[in-house]
Amino acid sequence: MGTETKAEKKQIIFSGMQPTGVLTLGNYIGALKNWIHLQDNYHSLFCIVDLHSITLRQDPAVLRKRSRELLMQYIAAGLDPEKNIIFYQSHVPAHSELAWILNCYTYMGELNRMTQFKEKSEKNEANINAGLFTYPVLMAADILLYQADLVPVGDDQKQHLEITRDIAQRFNNIYGEVFTVPEPYIPKVGARIMSLQEPMKKMSKSDDNENAYIGILDEPNRIRNKVKRAVTDSLGVISYNDDQPGVKNLLNIYCSLRGETVESALSHFEGKGYGDLKKEVGEAIVDELTPLQDRFKELEKNKDYIDQIIKTNGEKANQLAQRTLQKVQRKVGFPSRI
Ligand code: TRP
Repeated sequence: MGTETKAEKKQIIFSGMQPTGVLTLGNYIGALKNWIHLQDNYHSLFCIVDLHSITLRQDPAVLRKRSRELLMQYIAAGLDPEKNIIFYQSHVPAHSELAWILNCYTYMGELNRMTQFKEKSEKNEANINAGLFTYPVLMAADILLYQADLVPVGDDQKQHLEITRDIAQRFNNIYGEVFTVPEPYIPKVGARIMSLQEPMKKMSKSDDNENAYIGILDEPNRIRNKVKRAVTDSLGVISYNDDQPGVKNLLNIYCSLRGETVESALSHFEGKGYGDLKKEVGEAIVDELTPLQDRFKELEKNKDYIDQIIKTNGEKANQLAQRTLQKVQRKVGFPSRI
């Protein structure tokens, strides 16, 4: 990252996912697939945010397993670990250190307004811990440590990005230009993929009903069956509108994966029934995910290769993070190290 001239300086992208649950087709179309397109034009960091995960109780063995699986799914989906920095948040202590400092520049009132905190605390009344409350500050630290210009996030994270910007600006106002103030990155294409069972709700890996989502590692027949069971409507006509959310969702999946426009898909399905639509959507998903699943299986066998990636990418992230952290420590007045 050091040798470019200003004119060709690539922007920095940071994004992350929690290693809880399997990745769904929704995560794949809404996030991962877009990230793959970004990797040539940006310096990208993709983080497995395990520190964030422990705001809800996790089984340690499962968390460890899922973290590694998420990293392998990133790579299997096509993120190149040579071009991008793919790493575990917990391997870079600077995230926790900067989060502490930023906690002291964030107001209780701001955090109290976070809708995700309110939702999560209603769901987990027995464990409303301080980490859940300061979750957005850790997220701000993730982003600001790497001087990210752009952050691809879904709707549910926009408020967290907003607070990140507020914290960065507040800090810069006191100490000078320490942080890049990040912008949300909204991909040009890519529909929001909805639940197959309740198409007004987002497809979610934490859904209790497994038929509501496609896991990107689901077996082909499981995928076909889930699509076959997808909720549609009784109109029996394939058209694209909000009164037919189930059909609309299937068309969105079809278009995203086959690279077609809605118009061309509609003419393709003209006169056909929901059975045909489901069959073709199922095949489109299987065609897309099979190569990814094959690569995943290969990576699973390649323990040393994955270990090496974890090590070298962790080192790269640590190096970048240290630059910002040390600057911040100096600015706030901590004694320098000799
Ligand atoms: N909070 C995000 C989510 O649950 C994950 C996340 C953590 C993240 N740190 C981030 C996303 C930084 C983007 C940038 O989806």
